[in-house]
Amino acid sequence: MERLKVGVLISGRGSNLQALIDAAADPAYPAEIAIVISNRADAAGLARAEAAGIPYRVIAESDRAAFAAAADRELRAANAGLVALAGFMRLLDTGFVAAWRDRMLNIHPSLLPAFPGLHPQRQALAAGVKFSGCTVHFVRAEVDSGPIVAQAVVSVEDGDDEDRLAARILAAEHRLYPLAARLVAEGRTRIIDGKVEIDGWRTPEFAALNPPERPLDPLVSTPG
Ligand code: GRF
Repeated sequence: MERLKVGVLISGRGSNLQALIDAAADPAYPAEIAIVISNRADAAGLARAEAAGIPYRVIAESDRAAFAAAADRELRAANAGLVALAGFMRLLDTGFVAAWRDRMLNIHPSLLPAFPGLHPQRQALAAGVKFSGCTVHFVRAEVDSGPIVAQAVVSVEDGDDEDRLAARILAAEHRLYPLAARLVAEGRTRIIDGKVEIDGWRTPEFAALNPPERPLDPLVSTPG
């Protein structure tokens, strides 16, 4: 089986990169990480690539078009068929986005289109939503927009702060990104009218209530 070669773009910690590396360690996984590119030399994720024996490059080019040209060259040299943005914190050149249209994924820690941009967990807490989560989507020119491949939902709990919510969402991200990349690599995704349809996949009609119909903790008292 020929595995789809993926180029992963990072700027920092690289825990989503790690989730993809771990998924691809299974030879049955339909994709492999061919190259990791960081715009920052101090990205901790680079050590993860190194530990996994994956080639990596630092492109610390501050000019947006120059960064895009260099990244494009590296991705093509690595025969990448898919780009995965994983905590990549720079705006991308529109020509680069067009060149990789429908072949570039991003993960964002909210249920898009809610809370795009910076600090989505803070935005979710400020809005008082009962659920948040994460989204993997094909990349379009506008930040955090594009056809949605997959989403994972997590509860927002009373007393959550940004760090607790971010940690809960991050755990979901690490499950969601490998799944979404796999569906794309298997050729199961079709974009129709800006929406992604997934072949051969059934999803439950009903996912969750928050609060649940009955308290999980029997000690929760009724007001009165
Ligand atoms: C993740 O929350 C991702 O959704 C967002 O940036 C964060 C990156 O974390 N785009 P990591 O570098 O993958 O650990």
